[in-house]
Amino acid sequence: MTSKVGIGIVGSRFQADCIAASVKAMPEEMDVVAVASPTKGNAEAFAKRHAIPKFYADYREMLRDPAVELVSVTAPNRLHAQITLDAAKAGKHVVCEKPLCITLEEADAMIDACKAAGVLLLYAEELFFAPKYVKAKQMADEGAFGKVHLVKQGEKHSGPHSDWFWDVDQSGGGALMDLGCHGIAFCWWFLGKQKVKSVYSQLSTQHNSKRTKGDDEAITIIEFADGAIGMVESSWNRPGGMDDSIEVFGDKGQTYADMLMGNALPTYSEVGFGYAVEKAASTKGWTYPVFEEHWNYGFPQEMRHFARCVRGKETAISDGETGRVVQEVLYAAYASAGLGQKITLPFRPMGIVKPIDLWKKPELARAAL
Ligand SMILES: NC(=O)c1ccc[n+]([C@@H]2O[C@H](COP(=O)([O-])OP(=O)(O)OC[C@H]3O[C@@H](n4cnc5c(N)ncnc54)[C@H](O)[C@@H]3O)[C@@H](O)[C@H]2O)c1
Repeated sequence: MTSKVGIGIVGSRFQADCIAASVKAMPEEMDVVAVASPTKGNAEAFAKRHAIPKFYADYREMLRDPAVELVSVTAPNRLHAQITLDAAKAGKHVVCEKPLCITLEEADAMIDACKAAGVLLLYAEELFFAPKYVKAKQMADEGAFGKVHLVKQGEKHSGPHSDWFWDVDQSGGGALMDLGCHGIAFCWWFLGKQKVKSVYSQLSTQHNSKRTKGDDEAITIIEFADGAIGMVESSWNRPGGMDDSIEVFGDKGQTYADMLMGNALPTYSEVGFGYAVEKAASTKGWTYPVFEEHWNYGFPQEMRHFARCVRGKETAISDGETGRVVQEVLYAAYASAGLGQKITLPFRPMGIVKPIDLWKKPELARAAL
């Protein structure tokens, strides 16, 4: 075994590109050694683009490759559980993209399978590594804001780039599932990974009902054990490019961080240019082109941490249990919107096909109270 961790990526599009570039940014710890993607030609083109030595159409074939020690799952949500179970069986460590999976049963099965196989299940929540957010947490932990009683996180853009996100059978839910999972994890992490007491969520489909049965606008309030509150805003209705920001309030101070526009160049161009920020429709007029985009999110730092966890040099700060906490809050949030009431945790309805069903069929949520 070489000292560098060999990574095999499942998927070859948006998040796969991000992971490959992030791994390349931290070359002393790890290498992408293989990619697997079923669409004809995609894995090969991806391998060429990122100078990856091996490519496969079937990820199960990649799992037989001894050079692959850690599998990065960047496939659609509905496939996360099966790919993780197969990877664990093959003795590979797993980094699973958010959300961890679709159902709580899947989350348990993934955690159990990785435990049984003696491999790590790592949950790719990059906000735990975003430099601005890490600095905010360091200051909070130092006591800079006194007792923190309110943490807000918002992730908002104009809607996903791939069709499967809009199809709730493949994604499990809408903006709350896709973007709210970040905010839930963030508030929980920021407030010291405390127990969640209750969840309230207001969901609606404001502008995309022709395209999806999913929520495109979500406000979720999380009450933590010490009384602190997390507020998560998730939207697929914000043109103008990705917006990811936080606010932190305590009795002795506060801080605000705008991850992308706060790290951008206020720019005016009459003719436009190549790229400003994820999901910005135009680069003409006033725009906010970001720099070091992956770094500002924390993706390279996240992958470095995970590679070091594989080598036993660090202990994972985001793992399968983290993803499971998020999954339970997602269930509670959809149930809350269905019933129009606050949901107290633990909330573990069994046999739910996808989280959004708890909103659309409130009787399922009621039966689980
Ligand atoms: N952490 C983040 O900020 C972040 C950002 C974007 C996406 N994601 C997550 O990453 C995952 C992928 O999202 P994306 O935006 O890259 O989607 P995408 O549609 O751009 O890419 C999905 C990829 O999965 C591949 N795929 C489909 N079926 C497959 C199969 N059976 N086996 C192997 N590969 C298969 C597709 O060929 C494609 O390459 C999602 O779970 C998403 O939520 C996370």
